[in-house]
Amino acid sequence: MVERLQHAAVAAVPDVAPASAPDAAVTSRPWAMGDPGPRGRFGSFGGRFVPEALVPACEQLEAAFRAAWADAGFRAGLAGLQRSYAGRPTPVTEATRLSEALGVRVLLKREDLAHTGSHKINNALGQGLLAQRIGKTALVAETGAGQHGVATATVAAHLGLGCTVYMGAKDIARQELNVFRMELLGAAVVPVTSGARTLKDATSEALRHWVTTVDSTHYCIGSVLGPHPYPWLVREFQRVIGDEARAQCAELLSGAGPDVVVACVGGGSNAAGTFAGFVATPARPPSTTPRPTRRPWPPPSCAPGPRASCPRSSQLTPWPGCTAPRTPETWPAARRC
Ligand SMILES: Cc1ncc(COP(=O)(O)O)c(C=O)c1O
Repeated sequence: MVERLQHAAVAAVPDVAPASAPDAAVTSRPWAMGDPGPRGRFGSFGGRFVPEALVPACEQLEAAFRAAWADAGFRAGLAGLQRSYAGRPTPVTEATRLSEALGVRVLLKREDLAHTGSHKINNALGQGLLAQRIGKTALVAETGAGQHGVATATVAAHLGLGCTVYMGAKDIARQELNVFRMELLGAAVVPVTSGARTLKDATSEALRHWVTTVDSTHYCIGSVLGPHPYPWLVREFQRVIGDEARAQCAELLSGAGPDVVVACVGGGSNAAGTFAGFVATPARPPSTTPRPTRRPWPPPSCAPGPRASCPRSSQLTPWPGCTAPRTPETWPAARRC
């Protein structure tokens, strides 16, 4: 497959250009990149599963985001901060030696060169401005590797908001430098000692914190996860990566686009933001993520079948014995078996 490719754009980690991007092309997979509507659904994914106490906050946030995203003043303010504070647009670097070795042209979108060292600042800036717009005075966030915590602490310091970051005790030990940076920026870093003492547990604690402080605090989620409207608004705040990259690729490739757009996936925000920019182009969007090692991968075969016949129907991964082709397009179908 690699030999057939002429160009590949790679979002290594990962303007506000037309976030209204290319809605025409979204029609082929309307659930993937469009407006998820009031129920926050992306096909069979999405939704809002939160304690009753958080429903009004989620509804308020959705309304605020809809209004802000349609407000040229908000968009201009965000674009200004992205330029003057976050250092956008980030460049695209041609990885010449890797290209030579692979026999494809590899272009890297350099989100590592954004302020704080990753794409997380795009989302944190957007959510920070949104929090201010709805009158919240503090941010709470979860972090694992520490990048989202650092980005949130940075934005909170810049906008004059309070900041509390929940982090698993194990992650705190592993990411000492990022803890130091968050504290230097004035954030309170709260160690989480429950469960596996990692990101999932930190997320639960951050949610608990939010439930009790929801009147004054905005929960700044770090990726395309959590209840509606988070996955949608995080993708829109990260769309800047894809919009920039599309224009930069066109310039480097004499008007053409890349054949393939690749992104790493942790929570999925840089991938969603990058792919959003290319959804109207012929570029294919495979993404790569580490697979759990306990189950064999790829399974011997996998096919969509009646749910009831699947011995693991409650699981999100295909079960051994299925025979569906494993492509990004059929992947959701395979998941349903
Ligand atoms: C530097 C960096 N890149 C990428 C990711 C993946 O996050 P996401 O999949 O939300 O883009 C993370 C996650 O913490 C990160 O710290």
